[in-house]
Amino acid sequence: MGIATSTLSLAQSKLHVAAPYLIEQTWADYTPEQHAIWAELVSRRMPQLSQHACREYLDGFHQIGLREDKLPNLTEVSALLQPRTGWQSTPVSGFLPADAFFEMLAARMFPTTTWLRSRDSMEYTPEPDIFHDVFGHVPMHAHPVFANFLESYGKICAGLMARPDALERMGRLFWFTVEFGLIRQDGEIKVYGSGLISSHGECTRVLAGGCEVKDFDLDAVLNQEFQTSEMQPVLYAVESFDQIYEATKEAEKRLG
Ligand SMILES: [Fe+2]
Repeated sequence: MGIATSTLSLAQSKLHVAAPYLIEQTWADYTPEQHAIWAELVSRRMPQLSQHACREYLDGFHQIGLREDKLPNLTEVSALLQPRTGWQSTPVSGFLPADAFFEMLAARMFPTTTWLRSRDSMEYTPEPDIFHDVFGHVPMHAHPVFANFLESYGKICAGLMARPDALERMGRLFWFTVEFGLIRQDGEIKVYGSGLISSHGECTRVLAGGCEVKDFDLDAVLNQEFQTSEMQPVLYAVESFDQIYEATKEAEKRLG
């Protein structure tokens, strides 16, 4: 309790608009059934991901100490992640308004929900839960280039709050990288976007050729509309994570 409380107040002291959304994760309150659901979710995804996730994701999974049999303790995750890239997995109460979300990214704190889906929605939840947020997102934050990209993205968007048109376009950049990004590695398409990492159905469909895969192109991405609740008809593959870092800087020049 004491350690968690001081972590919470330290995080609150670094944030302004996001501070009211920060909470503590009471890890001891997760039930055996919830740990069992987590274990089932992870064991369902890992056979496919060990073949088709990018190597940075798989490395990150181990580097931040994720386990198959227990829900992650975010304090422990951050203790392993922070020395690598300065990122933390910071517990929040739920969906954040845009300005609070960008403020946290700019501070290298990933807003992380602590609730877990129930057994009747194993495949999909309309709002992110701890499985989507931690299993889907956080391993990538252990990679230095991706870590820099995400902070930079948050800073740029925080500066565009008065420009809804520019923010909408930046939202597409996030969607087609962080959420649904693909990368070419070893002559194959690999997944790194959290929406693909955490969803067996959507990932399987993409890997089976059920969606068009285009080479990443900043203009195309900024102009590509998407539906959050539907399977994606087109996705974009990068050659390296440097490419999305550079694209974010280029987007700032064009939209700023
Ligand atoms: Fe996400």
